[in-house]
Amino acid sequence: MIKILFVCLGNICRSPMAEFILKDMIQKRGLEGEIEVASAATSWEEIGNSIYPPAKRALIAHNVPYMERAATRITKQDYAAFDRIIAMERRNITAICRITGGDPEGKIRLLLDYTDCPGDIADPWYTGNFELTYQQITAGCLGLLEDLGF
Ligand code: 4NP
Repeated sequence: MIKILFVCLGNICRSPMAEFILKDMIQKRGLEGEIEVASAATSWEEIGNSIYPPAKRALIAHNVPYMERAATRITKQDYAAFDRIIAMERRNITAICRITGGDPEGKIRLLLDYTDCPGDIADPWYTGNFELTYQQITAGCLGLLEDLGF
């Protein structure tokens, strides 16, 4: 079982979108026994809150199932518990390393590094462009599955 943790700043937009988009791909490919997915925040801002409504609407528009959830913050223990910790932007990596104490096992990556367009996924909380976020996350998750050998 490969355990993946998606991480963003608030855990109400990008990382839960990534969680549900990858879960949908896993379900469609019959990989439920192979990959486990979760998501978390680096900040305390939105802890306990569910997915931001425009992020939900982007998932609904693309027929990606989601569940109501409560935003959680990444913990130091998560570093050992997950095989890959996948950030949405570089500043997430800085914040993750502050919480985990670094990345001695090289588990932390950027989601778009699994695509032909590496770099940051802009925060739709500020840009308002949830469709672009959906497209970038989908490309990243497809690349991630390929990288994992699926
Ligand atoms: P996310 O977006 O990191 O993609 O979940 C944000 C959500 C909330 C805030 C920042 C970013 N906030 O500052 O509350």
